[in-house]
Amino acid sequence: MADRKSALPTTTDAGIAVQSDEHSLTVGSDGPIVLHDHYLIEQMANFNRERIAERQPHAKGSGAFGYFETTKDVSKYTKAKVFQPGAKVDVAMRFSTVAGERGSPDTWRDPRGFSVKFYTEDGNFDMVGNNTPIFFIRDPLKFQHFIRSQKRRADNGLRDHDMMWDFWTLSPESTHQVAYLMGDRGVPKNWREMNGYSSHTYMLINEDGEKFWVKFHFHTDVGDESGNAHFTQDEAVEMAGKDSDYHRRDLFNAIHEGNPPSWTLKWQIMPYEDAKTYRINPFDLTKTWPHEDYPLIEVGKLVLDKNPVDWDTQIEQLAFEPNNMVPGIGLSPDKMLLARGFAYADAHRARLGVNYKQIPVNKPQCPVHSYSRAGHMRTENAVDPVYAPNSYGGATAYPDTGGEAGLWHADGDMVRRAYELREDDDDVSQARALILEVFDDDARDRFVSNVSGHLADGVSEPVLQRAIAYWRAVDDGIADRIEKKVRDMIGGKSKAPGMASAESISGPSRLREAA
Ligand code: HEM
Repeated sequence: MADRKSALPTTTDAGIAVQSDEHSLTVGSDGPIVLHDHYLIEQMANFNRERIAERQPHAKGSGAFGYFETTKDVSKYTKAKVFQPGAKVDVAMRFSTVAGERGSPDTWRDPRGFSVKFYTEDGNFDMVGNNTPIFFIRDPLKFQHFIRSQKRRADNGLRDHDMMWDFWTLSPESTHQVAYLMGDRGVPKNWREMNGYSSHTYMLINEDGEKFWVKFHFHTDVGDESGNAHFTQDEAVEMAGKDSDYHRRDLFNAIHEGNPPSWTLKWQIMPYEDAKTYRINPFDLTKTWPHEDYPLIEVGKLVLDKNPVDWDTQIEQLAFEPNNMVPGIGLSPDKMLLARGFAYADAHRARLGVNYKQIPVNKPQCPVHSYSRAGHMRTENAVDPVYAPNSYGGATAYPDTGGEAGLWHADGDMVRRAYELREDDDDVSQARALILEVFDDDARDRFVSNVSGHLADGVSEPVLQRAIAYWRAVDDGIADRIEKKVRDMIGGKSKAPGMASAESISGPSRLREAA
């Protein structure tokens, strides 16, 4: 038998050498184990606490590390040091699906998360985007409901297409994103041949204080011109059974084999004043900015060339937040973006603890002089003075250079309404252009087939009728094709039961009545 002795002695977490990797301490070899076998107890206790809570949305994913380099001169738009010519910074990235749990298949149809953390000398800048340039909703009050409709039902704990289409068809602003989702972007072939987008509009501020609106586009350099390689629905279903971690494995192996994926960052820039009069509300997350009005300009290169060594500490504990913004970059009046400014840091406090920014992968690569102190799992020493203002040389704020300089004018009565409609603001025009003009014949066929297959799988008759009307609002021809195909697949009317109506369930099982 080979000698399995290592040069590294096994120790407890306190660094004390242990006597055995295999045998617990017992009273005689047939007798009971003893409580003072500290190493056995430590192993059992740590094991019981290995799993941290999964992210609420975007639970399944993986990532890698690399760098971002600014290759063009875009300094007239922003003073952000990371976007000055030649600047090069480390990055951490995570890709994800939205609705599936931590162990769910990578190839389930879903948008894909595309999160980048830039470790800049001005602090961490996080871009937490998706592989689609838009989103399902425009008001953050609907986000929680939207995610619940994509996850699992209360009664049977199952995912449910009826619930998904119920929500979408009652939220017509979702049409554009559902068109993307049911098209080829809904199942990328891998993460390397996939574009990423800020989706939201952000602000840029230059050295003179001039402001611009911007959308970020990360175009894959792998694969052909169009990027965005995809699996068909059949290929996706097959892969989900064969290798549920296919995308994670593909990224890890590509980097391991010295084949680092890269993306070219491009911006669409809108002059600050244009936003007031542009024919589409530029802050509505369900819309793109047509490239003929705001063309793409090249900014730099993002490269992933380093795999994690410990997936749990480096990927699972990665914490992105859209409110991490450095001087020269700001938020915009997009209501979804503003709400995200709260949601992520709150999620991290719940998932990782209040001092999550001291976890190595989340730590800035620049000095930190905040006045936060103490709290659960704090590892860095606080120093006096621990308050501001003070007269003992503690850190002071610089109003002109602070990261929150991206401000805009706002005035008006308080209302509950997401945006005034403008000349070209409607819920279906951009979806129609995507389906009829951007998709080629084959892509359109796959779209019709994906929608029909989805609708034929458990969607009740009333919701199905609404879904056909939803696509009819986009285009009669497309709706006719979907209707025919679904009806053929289900043999006429849907027999799927849907959910029992909430009013029909009475008694203590309904929380609102039990209360
Ligand atoms: C993850 C909230 C909209 C992209 C998350 C998480 C929360 C959240 C709580 C889990 C964070 C964690 O535990 O680490 C929200 C809210 C939204 C919203 C409240 C709207 C009001 C969006 C939009 C996008 C997006 C529009 C894309 C443009 C992502 C991504 C992740 C994520 C990529 C995963 C981050 C990672 O890789 O760790 N979101 N989200 N979310 N969200 Fe959102």
